Amino acid sequence: MTETTKTRFTPRIFSGIQPSGGLTLGNYLGALKRFAALQGGEAETIYCLVDLHAITVWQEPETLRLNIREAAAAFMAAGVDPAQSVLFNQSQVSAHAEMGWLFNTVARVGWMYRMTQFKDKAGKNTENVSLGLLAYPALMAADILTYQATAVPVGEDQKQHLELTRDIAAKFNHDYGVEQFPITEPLIEGVATRVMSLRDGSKKMSKSDPSDASRINLTDSADAIAQKIRKARTDADPLPGTTDGLKDRPEARNLVNIYAALADQTPDQVLSQFEGQGFGAFKPALADLAVTSLEPITKRMNDFMADPAEIDRILGKGAIRADEIATPILERTKEIMGLLRTRP
Ligand code: AMP
Ligand code: TRP
Repeated sequence: MTETTKTRFTPRIFSGIQPSGGLTLGNYLGALKRFAALQGGEAETIYCLVDLHAITVWQEPETLRLNIREAAAAFMAAGVDPAQSVLFNQSQVSAHAEMGWLFNTVARVGWMYRMTQFKDKAGKNTENVSLGLLAYPALMAADILTYQATAVPVGEDQKQHLELTRDIAAKFNHDYGVEQFPITEPLIEGVATRVMSLRDGSKKMSKSDPSDASRINLTDSADAIAQKIRKARTDADPLPGTTDGLKDRPEARNLVNIYAALADQTPDQVLSQFEGQGFGAFKPALADLAVTSLEPITKRMNDFMADPAEIDRILGKGAIRADEIATPILERTKEIMGLLRTRP
């Protein structure tokens, strides 16, 4: 963290997840589990279901509404406590969209075309995707900086977007000669910052992968989880005694990392337990661990989903609290930019 950021801004953690379909084990280990663990420290924690990001690609309206509630249920089932954290959906706090527009005037078009997530999602179709998909990282910067957040826990895939957030903050501060925004620190920590597909160790586990066998969904049954792990792609060698031996074995490394993250161990600790054993022994142990770790979460998710009115109430209350923090920062930003405000 830069010196000015440390001395000028109160510690505040912000992160978001797109409610665009079921969440995966990657989201849980890379994001949700860590969101819960960061609560109760010195920094206030603010967690957001970024529905305005989700609509940068087409979402069926009724499905989107359901997915927002389901993602909220997943956050809480994973331990995000609305009494300790601000939990809300993005579209209920208009400061995000407004700050997003202000940042559209700060960010450069070239920065956006360079984003690998944009390139991946747009593919060859760069002229025909929504303008929102291209501008997406400026809205993400707005999410973070509207709270002057000093730290953002995310998985590895979001590193480039966080660098862009820092660039936007620095350019704004420089262009207007102010210290309005912190230079936010990415928190990309632990062994599960990039959980890989169960079918291909070179691809990230993703809710948008066409193959359901490639991922574990937080809503999967115990049988489905066990079967997906049993069928996960691996090699024929036994497990080595240390992580050095996993260098050229991406699928094996992925399963060991998943085990370590679920068990709160280091990969070396896992390997010292399984050294010399093949996947015939390791996979059932991993399946057992995954099922016992995820079963209570799935159950809690279902309990929350049985009372959608309660979820709506929690998100509504969270939005009011988020608004209280965001609005003064947004208004100060407008003032710095010379936008005239005269409303009584
Ligand atoms: P998304 O589902 O793209 O909205 O991602 C939400 C959060 O989960 C972000 O912090 C991502 O970095 C994280 N995440 C998504 N997929 C993975 C994965 N396969 N491994 C680790 N973290 C992930
Ligand atoms: N871009 C993130 C993703 O796809 C989601 C996101 C939006 C986010 N705004 C954010 C993450 C702010 C952290 C902070 O996963």
